[in-house]
Amino acid sequence: MTCYFLRFIILTTAVIFFTLKTLNTVEELNETGFGKPPPRHGYALLVWYVQNCVDNNMVSLCNPMEGEYGFHEFRNTGPFFLLPRLKDKKTYEYFTLGNLNSKHAHDLPYDVRKYYKPHDQKSNMDRVIVKYNKNKNKIETVFISEHYNRSKTYIVNLSLIADLRQQK
Ligand SMILES: *[C@@H]1O[C@H](CO)[C@@H](O)[C@H](O)[C@H]1NC(C)=O
Ligand SMILES: *[C@@H]1O[C@H](CO)[C@@H](O)[C@H](O)[C@H]1NC(C)=O
Ligand SMILES: *[C@@H]1O[C@H](CO)[C@@H](O)[C@H](O)[C@H]1NC(C)=O
Repeated sequence: MTCYFLRFIILTTAVIFFTLKTLNTVEELNETGFGKPPPRHGYALLVWYVQNCVDNNMVSLCNPMEGEYGFHEFRNTGPFFLLPRLKDKKTYEYFTLGNLNSKHAHDLPYDVRKYYKPHDQKSNMDRVIVKYNKNKNKIETVFISEHYNRSKTYIVNLSLIADLRQQK
């Protein structure tokens, strides 16, 4: 009995621990402090990404597979998987964007890059990670992450994406 109970506790804790928080509104996003103030670049990066790299149906307008804008594969490795593990790796792949030191990152707009200094860690710590459906060329999930720190990694809800698409 005790054993089952303990297992239940451990499993529940694991589920809570491994579930990333979803951000539903601009207020919630602001409250996380993600990507702001300068030299952090994540907020500008996220807004630029949702306004330029997806359409209303989350079809990808940028090509993560080709490394556009510095996109590269995000290997979601264990033992502490940052993101949900991909069940169908033929169809899905995670890609990360925002390392200003990577090839093609200079194609990002100046507003996203302007505070970057190679030796200032803060200026290059934010990432947008996407779950990409290679067959449909669609973005299934958008995540934001303060350099892959689990407690600073969030899922960006579709309605928040829609709101950010409206921002000036
Ligand atoms: C996304 O946010 C909207 C508006 O707050 C909410 O109605 C919806 O349930 C959210 N979706 C998810 C998957 O959390
Ligand atoms: C979120 O932050 C941005 C930029 O700092 C600000 O312009 C906006 O008013 C804030 N939005 C909300 C809903 O707090
Ligand atoms: C992750 O973020 C938390 C909260 O800000 C911080 O205490 C912790 O040191 C960070 N971990 C790493 C590995 O940077």
